[in-house]
Amino acid sequence: MKKIAVNYKNSLICDEEFEYMAHLVSSSHKKLHQDVDKENSYLGWVNYPIQYSTNLLNKINSAASKIKKNSDAFIVIGIGGSYLGTRAGVSALKHSFFNMLPRARRQAPEIYYAGNNLSATYINHLLDVVKDKDISINVISKSGTTTETAVVFRIIKDLMKEKYSEDELKDRIFITTDKDSGALRTLASLEGFESFVIPSDIGGRFSILTPVGLLPMAVSGININEILKGAKDAFEEYNNDNLMENDCYRYAAIRNIMYNKGKYIEILANYEPSLHYLSEWWKQLFGESEGKDNKGIFPASVDLTTDLHSLGQYIQEGRRDIFETVIKIDDMKSDIVIQSDEENLDGLNYLASKKLSYINKMAMEGTNIAHLDGGCPNITIEVPRMNEYYFGNLIYFFEKACAISGILSGVNPFNQPGVEAYKKNMFALLGKKGFEDLKQKLNNRMNNNI
Ligand code: PA5
Repeated sequence: MKKIAVNYKNSLICDEEFEYMAHLVSSSHKKLHQDVDKENSYLGWVNYPIQYSTNLLNKINSAASKIKKNSDAFIVIGIGGSYLGTRAGVSALKHSFFNMLPRARRQAPEIYYAGNNLSATYINHLLDVVKDKDISINVISKSGTTTETAVVFRIIKDLMKEKYSEDELKDRIFITTDKDSGALRTLASLEGFESFVIPSDIGGRFSILTPVGLLPMAVSGININEILKGAKDAFEEYNNDNLMENDCYRYAAIRNIMYNKGKYIEILANYEPSLHYLSEWWKQLFGESEGKDNKGIFPASVDLTTDLHSLGQYIQEGRRDIFETVIKIDDMKSDIVIQSDEENLDGLNYLASKKLSYINKMAMEGTNIAHLDGGCPNITIEVPRMNEYYFGNLIYFFEKACAISGILSGVNPFNQPGVEAYKKNMFALLGKKGFEDLKQKLNNRMNNNI
């Protein structure tokens, strides 16, 4: 079985730099694995691919079958780690125009995402589209208190209450949340909705391989057993503290080396639009894990070649504090051969009989060389193909790399204290609590001209 590989020939990193990192990586590995069983370590994701139960998978697959059978539309209600993994999986593995396919070809309900913003326009437009369809929803929130998710759940539940009896609602509302705490857990018990547990020792952004991502991905027709198989193999492959033999740790080390050379921004680049949401998931994973204590690489992303015509100029010649990580899928399994044209008015006959995938690949190689020449070193993560197995493999690769990278940079990668700041102000402004404190703070700021 081919493995994910990190190609660093354009990274400008030399062997001595890796040698220097080797013992740091090895001790980070030991720390991570020693802490797995510690209370509040949030490391449940490390062993999850070898510990999940078959019963759980059966329960997920049977809920997914029920949803597939009784629904035209399925709405995933959640934000951040509670929805980005699913969206990454469905986008990467299913048809680019999934919801527009005829039902017989899709073999699943249309899939929509909500609860990830507070836009009335977005929700109204979503309701326009789904109100006459048979709907099921999966509300996902570890805390069970996230405002975006809770507000949208209430709105959609109200719509569903108009359409369905109490018994029917029990076949259509699925809750994924903490085992014991939070409003969603209470609601699931009181109203009898089927529920799934987010393990308490797995944080949101590390939860895609739990019911958080598995149930909605199964509804889309993704084979979740294969995803977990890929993750399990990644668990084995990357359970090795030797940097020279572990490409996941090589990626973590490269990030650390780049940061110490003043490359404060990492751009994740893909050449397949279907990977757009993988980048969104990746940005949350690395951004929330590392961006703290006034440090951390800023994770950005581009979809190429599209963004070469918008952000390409900046990457080529803007501030030189960027490095690029390119995701290359070796075999996308879908291709088109360019035909010869007798008149050749568009001058494209030089491409005749070439495959579009080859042209895309040459664009990628040309871009990588240009970016390196322009002072933007780059590495390529080579994924043999995009299927369920390699998706699971890649997810675990990034999760483990993120953990090691965070430990290397001296932060706790598993908390997100900064996310509370906006919530505190929003609750004060909405009259939940803390309004007087906020007013006082703003007055002081104005009086002191800061
Ligand atoms: O990684 C995290 O823990 C967060 O980003 C969460 O995923 C996000 O805030 C959603 O939280 P919850 O699942 O509690 O609604």
